Amino acid sequence: MDLSPLIFAENLTRIYPLGPVGVVALRDVTFSISSGEFVLLKGNSGSGKSTLLALLGGLDRPTSGRLHVAGVDVTALTERELTQYRRRVVGIVFQSFHLLPTLTVLENVCLPALLAGASYESTQAKALHWLKWLDMLDRRHHLPGELSGGEAQRTAVARALINDPLVILADEPTGNLDTRNGARVVDILGSLHRDHGRTIVMATHSPIADEVATRHLCLRDGTIVDDRCLSL
Ligand SMILES: Nc1ncnc2c1ncn2[C@@H]1O[C@H](COP(=O)(O)OP(=O)(O)OP(=O)(O)O)[C@@H](O)[C@H]1O
Ligand SMILES: [Mg+2]
Repeated sequence: MDLSPLIFAENLTRIYPLGPVGVVALRDVTFSISSGEFVLLKGNSGSGKSTLLALLGGLDRPTSGRLHVAGVDVTALTERELTQYRRRVVGIVFQSFHLLPTLTVLENVCLPALLAGASYESTQAKALHWLKWLDMLDRRHHLPGELSGGEAQRTAVARALINDPLVILADEPTGNLDTRNGARVVDILGSLHRDHGRTIVMATHSPIADEVATRHLCLRDGTIVDDRCLSL
């Protein structure tokens, strides 16, 4: 049995080069996440949540420190390998959905799998499966501009699942939704964790997912302050 953590970060630091000293967005962050956890990344605005998720998602590189995901040293990957990493290892859900406006719901969901080289038939079957699970089947030929916010985010969740990623990353996935639709997205992520064994790292500054997560990681000014967010 492999007991090594799925995600291991050590002294992870990200300094944005800005002005004479730069902005320290993350400073010496060390943590590990096991397969099957639902980790809530909490912290006030500017505490470094999006910066950390961008590093985990291979969208950005740390200034220093180590980051291993599924045994891979993410900091050592070439640009080409990082593209593969983004397609195969992680699935990302953003606050503002990031759907391609000229593609239909079904096409948006299929795209990452087709780019990764999967066959059209298997991709379409998998996309329809997840769209059905997300109650989006009758919207599959809609363009993103023809969707409600909740529907757009459920499309983004299906897209994040299409390559069977080892970890789902969600950055304020409820931030642009009303309370009801926000709660629905949290329910969906909770079910993916509970019923489908998915590993989830979700950033939010709201208490919306407090009860669903198995662990809280709390950031303040770029450092982890404690595991229970008591001081927030
Ligand atoms: N591209 C950038 N250039 C310079 N500074 C940046 C950049 N992106 C973020 N920062 C700074 O890094 C710090 C962390 O930002 P980050 O976006 O990770 O915070 P956050 O916890 O996600 O906040 P929010 O809850 O508002 O989304 C902030 O001080 C921010 O101003
Ligand atoms: Mg953020």
